Amino acid sequence: MTYNLSWLKDKVIAIDGPAGSGKSTTARLVAARLGYKYLDTGAMYRALTYFALRHGISPGDEGALTALAQKLSIGFETGESVNRVFLAGEDVTEEIRSPEVTAAVSEVSAHPGVREAMVSKQRKIGEKGSVVAEGRDTTTVVFPDANLKIYLQATAEQRAQRRLIDLARAGVATTIEDQIADLERRDRYDSTREHSPLTRASDAYVVDTSNCTVEDQVERVLTIFKTAMS
Ligand code: DC
Repeated sequence: MTYNLSWLKDKVIAIDGPAGSGKSTTARLVAARLGYKYLDTGAMYRALTYFALRHGISPGDEGALTALAQKLSIGFETGESVNRVFLAGEDVTEEIRSPEVTAAVSEVSAHPGVREAMVSKQRKIGEKGSVVAEGRDTTTVVFPDANLKIYLQATAEQRAQRRLIDLARAGVATTIEDQIADLERRDRYDSTREHSPLTRASDAYVVDTSNCTVEDQVERVLTIFKTAMS
């Protein structure tokens, strides 16, 4: 179904939720249906982490990471099935999903200086509207006045299962137990950190994706959007 209706133009949709809840796929496809930009805020924290690790900057070095976050140029090119991520012009789409980056990104993204620099870049990208942003704090901090807020959730088992499929495609061998443990560790870290923890905004619509196909998730968000805007 195509939603190319003029009354749905120029809005901001913010989607938050834990790792593996389906945010990226849902947000990218909702954006494509609406002709909106897709903003993957997690990819920005990952790109910064990748650059830092490559240049020997420790995930605990807030000063160096903040300075880097302020000057680093991060770009996106959203295609049919993938959102390509560029760091100073270099395509780092695959590199930012490596286990090393995944292990370090929660610590890097917990620094207030890093968050401030990233939030300012994210608001700039979203300032003209027509954007679907997703992450951990897009409904609470980045776009507190978003026209629509969605909180996606799914059981840890379902989320781990999805990760397993993604990682197998990327040639990474792992087990469901390891993935559940890793997701629970990241959930704990992302939800209990002092600055901008992952929380459900009181005005967010909760969508449980545990037993949903991707198409179901996209349709549910679009239906909520159309209803909320009418
Ligand atoms: O969505 P993701 O797994 O690619 O996000 C990577 C990490 O970045 C995640 O562990 C927490 C952090 N993150 C954040 O702190 N704030 C956001 N808005 C998005 C992601």
